[in-house]
Amino acid sequence: MAEHEDRLRRGAHIVGWGMAVPERVLTNEDLATMVDTSDEWIFQRTGIAERHIAGQGETTFTLGLRAAQAALEIADLDPVRLDLIIVATVTPEHLLPSTACLLQDALGAENAGALDLSAGCSGFVYALSMAADMVKVGGYKYVLVVGAETLSCITDWTDRNTCVLFGDGAGAVVLQASEAPGGILSSVLGADGSGGDLLILPAGGSAQPASIETVTTRQHFVQMEGRQVFRFATRVMPEAARQALERAGLQVEDVSLFVPHQANDRILQSAARGLGVPEERMFSNLARYGNTSSASIPIALCEAIEQGLVNRDDVIVCVGFGAGLTWAAMVIRWSLPLPAPKPSRRMSFWRGLRYRWARIRSRWNRIWRRMDARLFQILYDRDGIRKRRRSDGE
Ligand code: ACO
Repeated sequence: MAEHEDRLRRGAHIVGWGMAVPERVLTNEDLATMVDTSDEWIFQRTGIAERHIAGQGETTFTLGLRAAQAALEIADLDPVRLDLIIVATVTPEHLLPSTACLLQDALGAENAGALDLSAGCSGFVYALSMAADMVKVGGYKYVLVVGAETLSCITDWTDRNTCVLFGDGAGAVVLQASEAPGGILSSVLGADGSGGDLLILPAGGSAQPASIETVTTRQHFVQMEGRQVFRFATRVMPEAARQALERAGLQVEDVSLFVPHQANDRILQSAARGLGVPEERMFSNLARYGNTSSASIPIALCEAIEQGLVNRDDVIVCVGFGAGLTWAAMVIRWSLPLPAPKPSRRMSFWRGLRYRWARIRSRWNRIWRRMDARLFQILYDRDGIRKRRRSDGE
C-alpha cells in the first residue's frame, strides 16, 4: 500500500538530453543539381536551407547511440540503472530486432527492457508519454527515450515533392522518477488512420513484401500528399497543444516555449497564429536540419536548452504530427537548474569503461552462444536427450 502511494506521488523528470546528426550536409543548392528545384523555392515554401544526411557507417542505431550516450552523460547516470529503453523511429536499423535492443546491448544497459515505437513524426512524444506513465505508475526509476531516424534511406531522391524535406539525426532524453514538483505534467495522443495513405511507405511490410517489382516501381520510398498533410498539421497542432494544456490545468499564456515537430516553417507560423502566440515562442531549427521525423522534437529541445531558452520552472509544450495520421502534445514543467551541472569525472570514466565492457560482453555472448550450440549438437540429439544415455539404454 505504502509503495502504491509512493508511486502516485511520483513525477517523471527529464534529467538528461543529447542529440547527434551526421557530418555530411546537403544544401538546397546541392539538391538543385539533383532534381528540378531551387534554393529559393525550398526555402520560401519550407524554411529549410540544409539537412544532414547519413554517410558511410552512420545508421539509425549509431546516431541513436551517440544521442543516448550524450543524454546519459548529462544525467550522469550509469546505463546499468536504466529500467527501460524506448526508441521512436520509422526507419529502424532492422525490422527485427528492434533498434532499442541494439542500444540496450551497446550501452551495457543490462537491467533494461527495450522496444521500438512507430507513430510517424509524433513518435517521440508518444514514447515520452508512455515512458512518463511507466515512471509515474509502473515503478520504473530511469527510462531512456530516443528518437532516431535515417530518413535518407526511404527518400526518393528523384522526387522533388519529398526529397527536399527530410534529414537524418537523433535526439534522446533520460527520464527519472522523483517526488519533486514539475516534470511531465500531461499529454495528449491522437490518431486518424483514415489518413494513412497520405504519407506512406507502401512496400516492405506484409501488404507488399519486398520483391523485384516493388523495387523497380520505387515502392520502398515515402509517398506523400503534401498539401493534405499540410492542412491536417495546421489544424491539429494548436488543437493538441490546447488539449494538453487543459489537462495540465494551464493556459497558452503560461507557456514559455513551444517545441514543435519541425516539418515546415509555414506550419509553425500557422500554429503560432492558431494559438495566439508570437512566432518567437515557437522554436525552429528547420533551416539546418529539415524534417527528421521522430528525432526532430528531441533535437529541437536540446538546441533550445543550449541556446538558453529553457529555464527552471518554465512550461514547455512539445507538439507533433505525422504519418498515421497521428498527433501528440505534451506539457512539461522544467524542473532542473540550467546549465546542467558537469558530470562527475569518475562517473564519466566509469561510463566509458561500461561501454567498452558492453562491447566485449556482447562479443563474448555471441561466441559463447555459437560454442554452446555446437556443444549441444555434439552431446544431444534433436529431442534434447544425451546421445550416450540413449545408446546406453538401447
Ligand atoms: N521545387 C520546385 N517546385 C516544386 C517542388 C520543389 N521541390 N515541390 C513541388 N513543387 C511544385 C509542385 O509540382 C507544384 O507545381 P504545380 O502547381 O505546377 O503542380 C507547386 O510546386 C506547388 O506544389 P504544392 O504541393 O502546392 O506546394 P506547397 O506550397 O503545398 O508546398 C510542401 C509543398 C512543402 C510539401 C507542403 O505541402 C508541406 O510542407 N506539406 C507538409 C508535409 C509534411 O509536413 N510532411 C511530413 C509529415 S511528418 C512525417 O511523419 C514524416
